[in-house]
Amino acid sequence: ARAWRGIVEEYRDRLPVTANTPVVTLLEGGTPLVPATRVSELTGCEVYLKVEGLNPTGSFKDRGMTMAISKAAEDGAKAVICASTGNTSASAAAYAVRAGMTCAVLVPRGKIAMGKLAQALVHGARLLQVDGNFDDCLELARKLSIDYPVALVNSVNPYRLQGQKTASFEIVDALGDAPDVHCLPVGNAGNITAYWMGYQEYHSDGRSTRLPRMFGFQASGAAPIVNGAPVTQPRTIATAIRIGNPASWQFAEKARDESGGRIDSVTDRQILSAYRLLAGQEGVFVELASAASVAGLLQAVEAGQIARGSRVVCTVTGNGLKDPDWALAGASSAVTIPVDAQAAAAALGLA
Ligand code: F0G
Repeated sequence: ARAWRGIVEEYRDRLPVTANTPVVTLLEGGTPLVPATRVSELTGCEVYLKVEGLNPTGSFKDRGMTMAISKAAEDGAKAVICASTGNTSASAAAYAVRAGMTCAVLVPRGKIAMGKLAQALVHGARLLQVDGNFDDCLELARKLSIDYPVALVNSVNPYRLQGQKTASFEIVDALGDAPDVHCLPVGNAGNITAYWMGYQEYHSDGRSTRLPRMFGFQASGAAPIVNGAPVTQPRTIATAIRIGNPASWQFAEKARDESGGRIDSVTDRQILSAYRLLAGQEGVFVELASAASVAGLLQAVEAGQIARGSRVVCTVTGNGLKDPDWALAGASSAVTIPVDAQAAAAALGLA
C-alpha cells in the first residue's frame, strides 16, 4: 500500500486540473467509511458513516478547498474571500496559508462554533463578524469578489463542487458499488449537489451498477427547500446549516428528483439525539449539523421512506471537537477526588 496523496492526485483524471496547476493540498480525503453497528440495528439497514471530520481541518470542506485554492493559485490570485458558518472559513484559512495567499472571511456574529473561529484566527485569516446571517455574509462576499481582486471560494465557485464530488468516488471504491441510499445534511446545498455529480460520473463510466437515492436533511428552523421559500430568520442549534437561502437550491432539488430521493427537515431535538447516539453508541464524535444525516435516516426509516435491508451511507460532515459546548452540556459532571485509589474506586463504583 502507498500513502494517500490527497484528492487531486488520487482522482486527477476526473478533475479540471492540468500539469500547470499548482496543487495546494493538505492530503485531504481518504476518510474512513465506518460501519455503524447501532444505527444499523435500529434501522434494519446496513449503515455506514463517511467520517468527513477526519479531514485536515476537520470537515468535508477541505475536498473542495484544495481545488478552489489550487485553481486560484493557477490564476495568480493573491487573496481569497468567503462567507461561512465556520467550516469553510477554517478550511480556506488553512489552504490560503499553504498557498501564500491572504484570506478574508465573513461570518455571522455570535453564530459560529468557537473551534471554527479559533481555526480561522490561528491560520491568520482576516475575520469579519457580520451583524447578519450567513446569507447576508455570502451576498457581501460575492459583491467584494466582483469589485476587488479577491477570489471567492464559497461553493458557488464550481471548483469547490468538483473537489467535493470525490467523496462519492471513495464510497463506491470502498463498497464496490454505490449504496441504495445516501443521507447528508443540507445547508447551502453544495455538498448534496457535489455527491450527486460524483455518483453520476462514476455510474456513467461503469464504475457502479446503480445510483443511490439522495436524502438531504435541513434543520426544521432553517428549511427553505422543504418549505419552498427562503427563511429570512433561520434558527437552529446546528449553526453550520443555519442557512435561509441556499446558493445551490435548484441543484439540490435536481439531485433529489433525478435520484428519486427526498429533502426533508429534522428538529433540533432529533439532531441532538442523533448526535448523542453517534458519540455514545458508535464512538463517533461529530458536530451537531453532521448528526442531521443520521437523524434524518432514523426518521425516514420510521416513515417507511427507506426500506429495511437497504445499504445506506450517511455523511457525517464535521468533527465534534469544533464545538465541544454541546458535548459538555449533555454530560454528567466530572467528580473530583484526592490522589487516592480507594476514593477513585469508590467514586467509580468499583469498591
Ligand atoms: N455540515 C457541516 C458541518 C457544514 O459545515 C455544512 C456547511 C454543511 C453540513 C452543509 O453543507 O452547505 O454544502 O449544504 N457549511 C458551510 C460553511 C455553509 O460555511 O462552513 P452544504
